[in-house]
Amino acid sequence: MKKIKLVSTLMVVGLLLLLSACGTSKTGSSEKKTLRVVTDAAYAPFEYQEKGKVVGFDVDFVNAVAKEAGYNVNIEHVGWDPIFVEIEKKTADFAVSAITITPERQQSYDFTVPYFLSKNEILVPKGSSIKSAKDLEGKKVAVQNGTTGQEVVEKLFGKNNPNIKKFKNNNLAILELKNGGADAVVADNTVIETYVKNNPKDNFEFIEDDTAFSKEFYGLLLPKDSKLKPELDKAVKTVIENGTYAKIYKKWFGVEPDTQTLKD
Ligand code: ARG
Repeated sequence: MKKIKLVSTLMVVGLLLLLSACGTSKTGSSEKKTLRVVTDAAYAPFEYQEKGKVVGFDVDFVNAVAKEAGYNVNIEHVGWDPIFVEIEKKTADFAVSAITITPERQQSYDFTVPYFLSKNEILVPKGSSIKSAKDLEGKKVAVQNGTTGQEVVEKLFGKNNPNIKKFKNNNLAILELKNGGADAVVADNTVIETYVKNNPKDNFEFIEDDTAFSKEFYGLLLPKDSKLKPELDKAVKTVIENGTYAKIYKKWFGVEPDTQTLKD
């Protein structure tokens, strides 16, 4: 009698173990690998900090891409320059940070297929005499160090031009403009336009210049020859094609994206 009781207890325990094992494999979440993703969360609306959390368009986008590719992600704010160090040293799996795909960066890093169209733009106080990029000549221009914004103004006015003021992040460049230490900021159009819209009290306006600033595309930044590239490329394409991208885009920008430009 005692033996039967023991056997049946063991069977129940075994069954319970089996059921719980099925449970984990069904959700799968505990088996997913977590990727370390680095960012510079001082570039709203792409990545910024809210109540100690990194949020923004890029965060939603990367979460969707990771889900599609079957990974968990941990997005950590490390700052702009450290992003490139971490990717170079492979201490992070990839970076998201409104990073423009440029031929120079492509020599040392890999990028996924493009996910966002951008262009540099000028931020000035309303009523400024600056109406185009050419008008920046002789003016103090604040940029984030190591960005395409820095690159374009250096191309126009020379590499060691003392009028070009370089900052660790874009918020500090904007602060310099606010404090009167600069006459303009050059940075990505979406960031500039979001700032103007969200800070009406600053009395800033944005200046576009299609002749001086050309089209740029953002990509996710990976270590050279990363095995993740094909998986992420595929997931980026799927997220763009299956409407998830449009949903995220609409949440942040209120309008439909032009996904055709990304595919061309
Ligand atoms: N798109 C520009 C570049 O790649 C600026 C990006 C800055 N991003 C940031 N999170 N601060 O150079």
